[in-house]
Amino acid sequence: SFLRPLHSSPSVKYRHPTPPPYHRHRRRIDNPQPSPNPTRPDPHAHSPSRIRPSARPRRATAGGERESMASGGRTDLDGAAVAPLTICVIGAGGFIGSHLCEKLMAETPHTVLALDVYCDKIRHLVDPPPPHLAGRIAFHRLNIKNDSRLEGLIKMADLTINLAAICTPADYNTRPLDTIYSNFIDALPVVKYCSENSKRLIHFSTCEVYGKTIGSFLPKDHPLRKEPEFYVLTEDESPCIFGPIVKQRWSYACAKQLIERLVFAEGAENGLEFTIVRPFNWIGPRMDFIPGVDGPSEGVPRVLACFSNNLLRREPLKLVDGGESQRTFVYIKDAIEAVLLMIENPARANGHIFNVGNPDNEVTVRELAEMMTEVCHEPAMATVLCSVTLSLLNL
Ligand SMILES: NC(=O)c1ccc[n+]([C@@H]2O[C@H](COP(=O)([O-])OP(=O)(O)OC[C@H]3O[C@@H](n4cnc5c(N)ncnc54)[C@H](O)[C@@H]3O)[C@@H](O)[C@H]2O)c1
Repeated sequence: SFLRPLHSSPSVKYRHPTPPPYHRHRRRIDNPQPSPNPTRPDPHAHSPSRIRPSARPRRATAGGERESMASGGRTDLDGAAVAPLTICVIGAGGFIGSHLCEKLMAETPHTVLALDVYCDKIRHLVDPPPPHLAGRIAFHRLNIKNDSRLEGLIKMADLTINLAAICTPADYNTRPLDTIYSNFIDALPVVKYCSENSKRLIHFSTCEVYGKTIGSFLPKDHPLRKEPEFYVLTEDESPCIFGPIVKQRWSYACAKQLIERLVFAEGAENGLEFTIVRPFNWIGPRMDFIPGVDGPSEGVPRVLACFSNNLLRREPLKLVDGGESQRTFVYIKDAIEAVLLMIENPARANGHIFNVGNPDNEVTVRELAEMMTEVCHEPAMATVLCSVTLSLLNL
């Protein structure tokens, strides 16, 4: 179900961090072919791509059936058995990490080394692991900035997935140093250890690396803004335009882009097997926090949680610049399906960058505010809202 919307449309929409411009990536991705030498990524195969079923799936054999049983019955997109993996998930205690760990535990035979400074969102999996998961998941409380255990854990795994980051927009302006350190400097040893130890890496980047369109520099009502060449991004050709240095909002996108370049260069020069994921607004349970309830009261979460908070407190919803900027949302469990495909299809995923979003699910922030208000005012929701609001007011 995840793949259908992506395949049905040649475009992936861009979530723009600043007002109106509307970006669309118009690159049709053909079936990515494995690189000639599967241990090294094809340096030319760097374009954002999507995993597709092979045109000619491999036939299962008797030996294949035995392999398949050992793999818990899991097969890759070419019909070959997937061997059980040990996966080092860094940032496992966050929103995406928690859903990924749940999926890996529920549907695969893979083993997880879960690294994070917090484990609240995966407590049900690790503290302690329920008996049926014993030996399959272990939580390691560590900060990748300064923990000597990191390399050893990466060495123990077949694959490392790096999700750790400061990635809440409100932080980019207020904590630009932490943002740059977290998204670039702290990720460096992860890339280095994977490369030096010949371990595969799936690195989480962001759709924000696409930067601004040329059209965004035109006056707001300029007719050329509506011309595709001014707002369509062609991934292998468009220049990458970020805001000026004084606009600290760009610290996140810039740090993410530089680490992407580093990962790519490690692939090209040192043979690192890598995949880069660029999420486009993944949403679902456990994302963000409601300030003062399950997060800091002075914190500012991402837009969905911000609006939820306003609605719960019966406050007006604040629209930045009229709420004209566009967002495409994808449900976390659909997006995690895509990540699992990358995990289990290294020959197709290595050396590629994947945009993961739902281009058929685009709204302006204003429309989102209207939709959420409407849902909240439905009678059934109003009852829930009323009791939650009362408990919030009693805090
Ligand atoms: N959620 C989205 O829609 C979205 C969009 C674009 C990009 N991304 C990227 O996906 C990744 C995961 O996003 P998320 O929404 O799950 O974020 P999140 O904040 O919920 O999770 C990140 C986790 O990393 C951990 N972490 C941060 N620094 C660490 C450190 N130094 N050592 C150990 N653990 C550390 C945090 O404690 C947290 O649990 C990030 O790299 C983010 O930039 C997510």
